[in-house]
Amino acid sequence: MAKKILVAGGAGYIGSHVQKQLLEEGFEVLVYDNLSSGDKVNLLKGADFIEGDILDKNTLDKAMAQNIDGVVHLAAKKAVGESMEKPEIYAENNISGAINILNSMIKNGVQHIVFSSSAAVYGMPEYTPIDENHPINPINYYGYTKYAIEQNMAWFAKLGKLNYAALRYFNAVGYAADKSITGRERNPQNLLPIIMEVATGKREKLSVFGNDYDTPDGTCIRDYVHVSDLAKAHTAAMRKLMTEKSSFALNLGTGKGTSVNEVIAATEKVIGKKLNYDYAPRRAGDPAMLTAKADKAFELLGWKPNYTNIEDIVRTVWNLEI
Ligand code: WQD
Repeated sequence: MAKKILVAGGAGYIGSHVQKQLLEEGFEVLVYDNLSSGDKVNLLKGADFIEGDILDKNTLDKAMAQNIDGVVHLAAKKAVGESMEKPEIYAENNISGAINILNSMIKNGVQHIVFSSSAAVYGMPEYTPIDENHPINPINYYGYTKYAIEQNMAWFAKLGKLNYAALRYFNAVGYAADKSITGRERNPQNLLPIIMEVATGKREKLSVFGNDYDTPDGTCIRDYVHVSDLAKAHTAAMRKLMTEKSSFALNLGTGKGTSVNEVIAATEKVIGKKLNYDYAPRRAGDPAMLTAKADKAFELLGWKPNYTNIEDIVRTVWNLEI
């Protein structure tokens, strides 16, 4: 019988791609989302939906009681800057919300959870590429919430209550190439969505935060990993949790670094015109370079990203506009 997965945050950007991948691999899907940043247009045919908040324990318990075999948890606030100004919102939504999910799982005998974690748990890199043994030292409250949840899952696993996979994403980008996911994030804060707003005329220009970094072209280097590749790691992780008792935390990235200038150049090539941008001062807390060593994902899950070329990635986003 098909396994049924509750996807908390399944109407969001990454969650909708996870939803799609689960359905394509024959899982049953129940999306649980409060639609605060997710969008109903991201609910795919074949998925069930409950509109609910992870802070609403009653509704959450009702959803969890629907013969759920595993949970993918991606319902969280994710604006780094905001997390430093209003930590209380992040404490409640991210940490309390995750605890509610874990408790509801235990109450309902649900044993497996794949959790959306972040490279933000590592903080300023002491070396790159970053492997999973890199010291954990988040420099913003958002990153701390992700690690706090990882630690709680580790305790619950140690106490025999569940097993978990913590997937530490690097920079998630792109859209499903078949254009099946169309909901764009409102008020995007990340580089590529902002670039797309400039490309489509919604925004006047892009400010590049710093061109005096110690990198070949002076702009910051990141590891941009396609969201469809990320989604595949979630299903692979869920299968692993269901067949083995183990728990694990692993990086999801390509291992390849791309600078802001390179993202701009790739975009100009894809859209066939110049982008309006200028160089602005550095943004606080930005490391010069952040790339992943993702060998563990390959060893444990056989996961390898299909998208390794930034132009191909940008094309999957631009395709939604044309
Ligand atoms: C990428 C690069 C910016 C906007 C963040 C979180 C991380 C993770 C993913 C999420 C950087 C530059 C950006 C702009 C720019 N978490 N940039 N002008 O900061 O690498 O990672 O998102 O959920 O925890 O920190 O991603 O997309 O903001 O920036 O020059 O207007 O683009 O300086 O070098 P970041 P980003």
